[in-house]
Amino acid sequence: MNIAIIGADGQLGSDIAAKLKLEGLGVIELVRSDIEISNRYSVNSIINKNLNAELVINTAAFHHVEKCEGDPVTSFIVNGAGAANIAYACSELDIPLIHISTDYVFDGRKKKPYLESDLPNPLNVYGNSKLTGEHLIRSITDRSYILRLSGIYGRNICIEKGYNFVDKILKIGEEKGEVKVVDDEILTPTFTEDIAAQILLMITKKAEYGVYHVSAEGSCSWYEFTKEIFRLKDNGVKVHKAAPGEFSGGVQRPAYSVLENKHLKDQGLNIMTDWKDGLERYIRDYRM
Ligand SMILES: NC(=O)c1ccc[n+]([C@@H]2O[C@H](COP(=O)([O-])OP(=O)(O)OC[C@H]3O[C@@H](n4cnc5c(N)ncnc54)[C@H](OP(=O)(O)O)[C@@H]3O)[C@@H](O)[C@H]2O)c1
Repeated sequence: MNIAIIGADGQLGSDIAAKLKLEGLGVIELVRSDIEISNRYSVNSIINKNLNAELVINTAAFHHVEKCEGDPVTSFIVNGAGAANIAYACSELDIPLIHISTDYVFDGRKKKPYLESDLPNPLNVYGNSKLTGEHLIRSITDRSYILRLSGIYGRNICIEKGYNFVDKILKIGEEKGEVKVVDDEILTPTFTEDIAAQILLMITKKAEYGVYHVSAEGSCSWYEFTKEIFRLKDNGVKVHKAAPGEFSGGVQRPAYSVLENKHLKDQGLNIMTDWKDGLERYIRDYRM
């Protein structure tokens, strides 16, 4: 099977590409110099019959939350129209699309893990533009998988942000001996290798189309996540609680964005494990 991955050099895209290649699947790695998703001509000229793709996975997005807030037009062009361009190309070829979305489509008022059937209500431009992408895809093709993720970290840095949370906090801790982190945002940090394994299973088991929550199990605040990072590193770095909203960059975020993988569980396909398990493997395998 030939699978085209858009954003293949990104934090998530690179792990998906590695996992699929390891399983012997044909992977076509598309990076920004190959394709500009906000340009329909660029998308159509790449995603066409000659590519021989039987499935497209889109990880590309404009997802720096503060930059999105300051530039709604670009956010909606990339995350909305860009997603639509890919959906049109897939629809014309009658091939399925796996598209990556976010927990930020929710407002965080629920206080219990969000189900795929819960009503989204984004608080910021990023969340609104990603939700627009979801709606557009579902309006254009009925052969789509929309995967909402939460707080991802991987071997390779997040290109757009220039870091991932774990590596950034490790660096600050090592330099200063102490770190300060917010305790008022509850989420489920998720290792990208685990998301890649889950996507592989969805492909091989031919999961039904639709919206999926794909996050690790359990939940924590950024503060609790950081405490666990330094417990595993065992390097004596002190972790302090920051004041609520101290690092928000002036952008509203959901205070609670834990996702329940109900759609996966209903089909017996959920292989995501506890967030502490993923973090332990990440630190042991890549950051010790
Ligand atoms: N980070 C999180 O905690 C989090 C949480 C939930 C969901 N997500 C979602 O997860 C996905 C992947 O995130 P990531 O951390 O892997 O991102 P990343 O490391 O920044 O990678 C994104 C990739 O997409 C490419 N790209 C960006 N804009 C593009 C465009 N207009 N046309 C073509 N390619 C473009 C980037 O290329 P260039 O670098 O060359 O621009 C890069 O290769 C995103 O859809 C994001 O919304 C992230």
